[in-house]
Amino acid sequence: MKIIMLGAPGAGKGTQAKRIAEKWQIPHISTGDIFRMNIKNGTELGMEAKKYMDQGLLVPDELVVKILLDRVAQSDCKNGYVLDGFPRTIPQAEVLDAELEKLGEKIDYAIDVDVPDENIINRMSGRRACVSCGATYHITYAPTQKEGVCDKCGSELILRDDDKPETVQKRLGVYHQQTQPLIEYYTAKNILKSVDGTKDMEDVFQSIVSILV
Ligand code: AP5
Repeated sequence: MKIIMLGAPGAGKGTQAKRIAEKWQIPHISTGDIFRMNIKNGTELGMEAKKYMDQGLLVPDELVVKILLDRVAQSDCKNGYVLDGFPRTIPQAEVLDAELEKLGEKIDYAIDVDVPDENIINRMSGRRACVSCGATYHITYAPTQKEGVCDKCGSELILRDDDKPETVQKRLGVYHQQTQPLIEYYTAKNILKSVDGTKDMEDVFQSIVSILV
């Protein structure tokens, strides 16, 4: 099964994508995580991506597309995958569709996690991310057992640079302008499914499960 997660920054795409990946035993592929790993490792790609990410802008398509296509060509993706944060523009979606078509494959579902802008700022300011393994938490909705410490690996938790309120506002603007048109794109392909992302995490997951089973 090949799934795309859509939704505004902070809508809960990553939270739900991880659970889908676990339940269906398919890889969770987050382009944001790939960039953050490259930034952490000080690679050239990471340094280039950081310039855009810190401003709340999208990384240029030409930098993202190749990385994603290389990743989905790996052997662990043969039974499908859940994409989190890709595609984010119509050109990215078109390239993905064209590459899949060459292989006689297609995306099965695009799941839009729908959360209004007014809920987003609160969510983002409370999100904490592990510096080491990338696990994410929320100080109110998904707290760790010990404050400031990752439950999974024991490393320090931080507020992502791009989760500061002024950058979140910018990311929301970019989302509406460049990413939201994908909802129409996948509606036209008859694979868009929308879930109410304002519900609690378990309810959102159950809504997704009922779509995918
Ligand atoms: P990326 O990492 O993809 O960021 P994003 O899309 O902005 O999404 P987030 O990771 O911020 O949020 P999410 O929807 O996954 O929410 P989460 O589950 O964490 O991308 C970062 C940057 O990289 C981009 O700005 C861009 O520069 C670049 N980039 C990446 N991909 C690109 C591409 N394809 N093209 C170009 N540039 C690209 O949840 C948020 C918080 O809310 C968490 O604390 C969570 O615990 C909590 N939460 C989740 N669900 C609920 C719920 N139901 N109720 C209460 N709290 C909840």
